Amino acid sequence: MIPRIIICHLALVCFLIYCDKILAKDANIEEEEYEARNFLILLNRQSERDANRLAIAQWAYASNLTDENLQAQLAIASEVAKNEKEAWQRVTQFNWQRFSDYNLRRQFQKYSVLGTSALPEEKFKQLNKIISDMETIYSKAKICPKDSKDGKECNLSLEPDLTQILAVSRDAEELKHTWLKWRDAIGPKCRGLYKDYVELSNEAARLNDFTDNSQYWLHDYEDPNFKTAVFNLWEQLKPLYLQIHAYVRTKLREKYGDIVSEKGPIPAHLLGNMWAQTWNNVAEFMLPYPDVRDHNLTAILIEKNYTATEIFKTSEAFFKSINLTAMPETFWNNSILEKPANRELICHASAWDFYDGKDFRIKQCTEVTDEQFITAHHEMGHIEYFLQYKDQPFQFREGANDGFHEAIGDLIALSVNSNKHLKKIGLLPNEKDDPKGVLNNLFKLGLSKITFLPFGYLMDLWRWDIFSGKTTSEDYNCKWWELREKYQGVEPPVDRSEEDFDPAGKYHIVADVPYLRYFISFVLQYQFHRSLCEKAGQYEPNNVEKQLHECDIYENTVAGNLLKQMLEMGSSKPWPDALEVLTGQRTMDATGILDFFKPLSKWLEEENKKNNAFIGWERSKKVCTRTRQELLENSPSSSTSTVSEGPSTTEST
Ligand SMILES: *[C@@H]1O[C@H](CO)[C@@H](O)[C@H](O)[C@H]1NC(C)=O
Ligand SMILES: *[C@@H]1O[C@H](CO)[C@@H](O)[C@H](O)[C@H]1NC(C)=O
Ligand SMILES: *[C@@H]1O[C@H](CO)[C@@H](O)[C@H](O)[C@H]1NC(C)=O
Ligand SMILES: *[C@@H]1O[C@H](CO)[C@@H](O)[C@H](O)[C@H]1NC(C)=O
Ligand SMILES: *[C@@H]1O[C@H](CO)[C@@H](O)[C@H](O)[C@H]1NC(C)=O
Ligand SMILES: *[C@@H]1O[C@H](CO)[C@@H](O)[C@H](O)[C@H]1NC(C)=O
Ligand SMILES: [Zn+2]
Repeated sequence: MIPRIIICHLALVCFLIYCDKILAKDANIEEEEYEARNFLILLNRQSERDANRLAIAQWAYASNLTDENLQAQLAIASEVAKNEKEAWQRVTQFNWQRFSDYNLRRQFQKYSVLGTSALPEEKFKQLNKIISDMETIYSKAKICPKDSKDGKECNLSLEPDLTQILAVSRDAEELKHTWLKWRDAIGPKCRGLYKDYVELSNEAARLNDFTDNSQYWLHDYEDPNFKTAVFNLWEQLKPLYLQIHAYVRTKLREKYGDIVSEKGPIPAHLLGNMWAQTWNNVAEFMLPYPDVRDHNLTAILIEKNYTATEIFKTSEAFFKSINLTAMPETFWNNSILEKPANRELICHASAWDFYDGKDFRIKQCTEVTDEQFITAHHEMGHIEYFLQYKDQPFQFREGANDGFHEAIGDLIALSVNSNKHLKKIGLLPNEKDDPKGVLNNLFKLGLSKITFLPFGYLMDLWRWDIFSGKTTSEDYNCKWWELREKYQGVEPPVDRSEEDFDPAGKYHIVADVPYLRYFISFVLQYQFHRSLCEKAGQYEPNNVEKQLHECDIYENTVAGNLLKQMLEMGSSKPWPDALEVLTGQRTMDATGILDFFKPLSKWLEEENKKNNAFIGWERSKKVCTRTRQELLENSPSSSTSTVSEGPSTTEST
């Protein structure tokens, strides 16, 4: 008997103590959560104020590249970083992982990752300075025209001059000159800076408990297997890419002769774009049905006297028609929609949130062309997202992930691009569609969408390996060309060396902007489009009257309201939740883009068979060496590769 009593007694005591502890803990955590909520109100207020000050200073510099504006921007960036670090130290003192309120926990989780502000002040300044310096070199770079005699006309800038030459010139020598001089003007100057940038970025990442900066870049996707998911998407899309690649190579060879080989990679300067990332500018001499009269949207916009502002008004009208929000007055007052003549600026188009719920701007050196017409929609898609989530707490004012943010304007542009829509808004004559013309149109779109996929993927494949240390600074340039060859099947117009640094010729590399978002966006936008078109009753897989590429959600408020529901969420939930709201699916799905281009892929396969075209590519004959001297020593004999270029990249089906 006695022992049982004791046991009983002990149990009771234990229970009481235990209970007491639990109660005490719960009381503590409740109290802590209460305290955290109050802390968060103040913190969000400070973050908004700081983000606003920083955006104003960054805008002042980006739109007017003076040293004074740079110094002002760097000073504010340092101040803000200091505030962030102080806040972060307090955030980490909370047991936020145990908070019962999901919203609160998620905001703390986001605040618990500090980013580059984790660096000691001097290094933080150094990193920012390096990035600004590279951006400035890029934005101010000028080159001479091909047959320049004196240096007087050496004032060609990327936008609009070089972009235009790459788009319209069909003179292979002029294209090669432009391609090469652009890279000469930037690469060597940025190479050393880039190496320092990599080291400091990694140091910041490690201070945030990531192994290196690539892991930091990927953490926002909230999925440890995200890289694999992306790789699988690419594998699914590769067969379609190989078809369009083979067809374009055949046509380029007809046009340019032997500088385009029958089975090798395509020379990168012949594709109508400085980075060979989109090929739509060479569509004109390779349309599936060359005899069908093709509309020239650039010419139509010019003929109709479109201005930059009118292009943006046209885009706004689309958003309004699906019950989304008009641009506020500040947008029209503060944006820069045309290139100003009186100063240097960063022309690369961008959309800005000033975090005060009122001020939203676009900066774009708009030319009246079909391409910029689409870019305008892309940028306005960002602003629309900003507007929809502006009332979310500070940390949730982002896209569900950065790929979502890039996809919204493009999604709208898919409707805008359809013949149906262009007729509706009076940009095309209102005549009956010729199915051949429709396929031509789909082909042109394929030249800017399908061709982009491997480029969108490899930009960060290159950087991930650099951040992780797998690629060292001795191999920066040769590794770049290895990936360009392996994924895109393109090659440089001339041999390259490690004294060049060609990746720096691309804005997002020097500006420290991750790029995977664009690849994701190019998958998501079609997944979104397919769902919205189904909801709008405009897509049925087996109905030739209701094909995906002819769907236009203009004026469809059912589609618009659903889109709005997703946009309003910002990043308050993990991205699969947002995706589910719009599509009912929780994973990224490449069949959206495959469905969209099905008629084209069928046509390409038949055409390539007919032409007996080689699918894939053999190894490039171009080499990449350590030094330029080595290249000189080996020329002019067309020596075969002396330096290893990685594994064989022959692809065939
Ligand atoms: C550019 O910035 C400088 C200050 O560095 C200022 O004096 C000038 O007025 C600005 N230019 C324009 C057009 O805003
Ligand atoms: C470049 O300089 C030449 C000669 O000085 C001038 O005629 C031309 O307008 C300039 N072009 C640009 C784009 O500034
Ligand atoms: C389209 O029109 C523009 C402006 O008139 C012209 O520069 C361009 O060459 C035209 N493009 C084609 C493919 O004809
Ligand atoms: C465009 O402007 C020109 C010259 O100002 C004018 O003659 C023409 O009628 C305008 N076209 C349209 C479609 O408004
Ligand atoms: C447009 O959106 C608002 C909410 O922003 C909603 O109240 C209204 O019903 C929507 N209009 C239509 C036609 O769906
Ligand atoms: C926009 O500019 C107009 C004209 O300059 C001005 O009257 C108006 O107050 C400005 N609005 C805002 C919100 O800044
Ligand atoms: Zn964008």
